[in-house]
Amino acid sequence: MKKILVIHGPNLNLLGKREPDIYGKFTLEQINELIKKEAAQLKLEVKIIHSNHEGEIVDTIGNASSEFEAIVINPAAYTHTSVAIRDAVSACGLPTVEVHLSNIYSREEFRKTSLISGVASGQIAGFGIQSYILGIKAASYLINK
Ligand code: DQA
Repeated sequence: MKKILVIHGPNLNLLGKREPDIYGKFTLEQINELIKKEAAQLKLEVKIIHSNHEGEIVDTIGNASSEFEAIVINPAAYTHTSVAIRDAVSACGLPTVEVHLSNIYSREEFRKTSLISGVASGQIAGFGIQSYILGIKAASYLINK
């Protein structure tokens, strides 16, 4: 079975209690259950990791191409700051879907710039937990097209 990697960036472990008006009331565990169900329906194996640490995310992406066919990543705050994660995505050569729960273009100015989007296959933002479901579907499409 083809395998995809889902990466949750910093502070997403706080979902559920973190600004629920912006990010919704679901916990990361609940989101992960939905991701696993969607992946199973699409006949994909999925590994899900969360990290608050930029270097750990860079290492994970750097090692991904030996095991995975695509990446779905919510880089969270690193979206707007991390050249290192951008370079890792670019270097790994895997189709990569950038996802955000919120619409980053309708919020503060600093969130309107994604350093990741220029090297991602595409971006999905603004649909709450559905952003992840759409992200998994997009990864499946990219693997199978
Ligand atoms: C986020 C948007 C980012 O700006 C923010 O720093 C996050 C979450 C989202 O999913 O909407 O932590 O990536």
